[in-house]
Amino acid sequence: MTANIAVLVSGGGTNLQALIDAQKAGIITSGKITLVISNNANAYALERAKNADIKTAVVLKKELGEGFEERIKELLAENKIDIIVLAGFMSILSESFTKAFPKKIINVHPSLIPSFCGKGFYGLRVHEAALEKGVKVTGATVHFVNEIPDGGEIIMQKAVSIRENDTPETLQKRVMRLAEWKILPLAVEKVCSKIIK
Ligand code: GAR
Repeated sequence: MTANIAVLVSGGGTNLQALIDAQKAGIITSGKITLVISNNANAYALERAKNADIKTAVVLKKELGEGFEERIKELLAENKIDIIVLAGFMSILSESFTKAFPKKIINVHPSLIPSFCGKGFYGLRVHEAALEKGVKVTGATVHFVNEIPDGGEIIMQKAVSIRENDTPETLQKRVMRLAEWKILPLAVEKVCSKIIK
């Protein structure tokens, strides 16, 4: 038995790619990516899903308004999803949504939580803030999602050293390569293996 995984995306989808690759490599064996949902019709992540023969859906907030989360819930139910992975999903889910899936939603965040996290800290902005502060070590965190943005239980973290000549862009790439793409698949496998037991 395997857990059905839905991955929610908004952009480039390199973390989705890391999950697809980990599934192919046998790093993820307790779950299967069966659905990719994007809140952006132009997300390159959708191409990555199609190339891997994974079903996709586009759900737009500006079209659906209040019905945005309801539509996501319908898709999750129709596809018998057991675990939801937020991989660069740039929309904060409501309390009623997160409460409907306790310990079933996981997120990857590009810093060592509790630093540089919460509302307003996403994507490149996180790395800009780390460089502005002058921290010497940053990294990535995979955590469960609850009603507090970036506030749920931590599942895995990995540290990455900052270099003197780093820009937000060079730092973002290194945090992805050395931390996010490594710990996200491992955390997904860990949570899926518990769910199927
Ligand atoms: C990743 O760095 C991810 O950690 C971050 O956005 C990027 C998405 O890249 N997520 C957040 O900042 C969430 N608060 P990707 O689309 O290539 O995976």
